[in-house]
Amino acid sequence: MLDFNTIINNIHSNLKNEVVKGVVASYIPELSKQDVNHFGIFMQHMDGRTFMAGDANVPFSIQSISKVLTLSKAIAFEDNNLWTRVDVEPSGNPFNHLSLLELENGIPRNPLINAGAIVVADILCTQFKNPKADFLQYVRDISNDQSIKYNYKVAASEKLTGYNNYAAANLLKSFGNLHNDVEVVLDFYFHQCALEMTCAQVAKAFYVFANSGKCVNNKQHVTVSQAKRINAIMLTCGFYDESGEFAFEVGLPGKSGVGGGIVALLPNKFVITTWSPGLNAKGNSLIGMQALEQFTTQTNLSIF
Ligand code: DON
Repeated sequence: MLDFNTIINNIHSNLKNEVVKGVVASYIPELSKQDVNHFGIFMQHMDGRTFMAGDANVPFSIQSISKVLTLSKAIAFEDNNLWTRVDVEPSGNPFNHLSLLELENGIPRNPLINAGAIVVADILCTQFKNPKADFLQYVRDISNDQSIKYNYKVAASEKLTGYNNYAAANLLKSFGNLHNDVEVVLDFYFHQCALEMTCAQVAKAFYVFANSGKCVNNKQHVTVSQAKRINAIMLTCGFYDESGEFAFEVGLPGKSGVGGGIVALLPNKFVITTWSPGLNAKGNSLIGMQALEQFTTQTNLSIF
């Protein structure tokens, strides 16, 4: 039987002293305050066991990891109608790339790049009565943790420098693919990205995708088929123009955020979250990717 405790702790202690840790995101000024030396790993096994190392219980800005959570709620509301407004193809481009959006008439390549996530945010602004409060409640419910919060400073900080997302939202609006006001949708989007969660909380939230749509409380939030689709999109699009590399190195569906978090999962087996704020050139956590590569290589647990 695999000794997950030893494996995770060894990976953590080997990587925590790496000299090259990547660069903390600074285009959202509030995120630049993060200490590059944070490093946490949390594993939630489906048999109920949990394993952790380092800063697994320190909250961080989940940023783009939130795009999977909003996607799951939009899919629950709209099912296949969603795919008339956003595609499911990898973009092969950075998360904030815009020229494809114009070439493809305002239909974002997938729901995990910024433009696609803004369309998903628009859907939630239409479907929810109180979008920010209702979405936060959804995240608290699937994670079984009522203490999860938005970091309002991070949301405000991104709004001040969010020119690229304003460009994306305006382009979507010009193509008729944004139904609510640009300001309303981006206010929601900046808040979803500013959710603050620990590695442990993110692993609990993503249990729903590893467990055929049922959360830790055994409540069905998306169907089995919807969970399959969400995992497929994470595998093909979760790391932008590094999605192929993540599949090659790690071999699991997953999602990264510029706060330095990564969550990955093996359906019916486990969810694993890492957090190390230093990013590589593609905007993904440098040490987090290495930790996950070592984990799936040492355990032989991947989808391939
Ligand atoms: O919209 C943005 O640029 C950020 N709120 C989120 C980007 C992000 O996390 C990309 N992930 N690696």
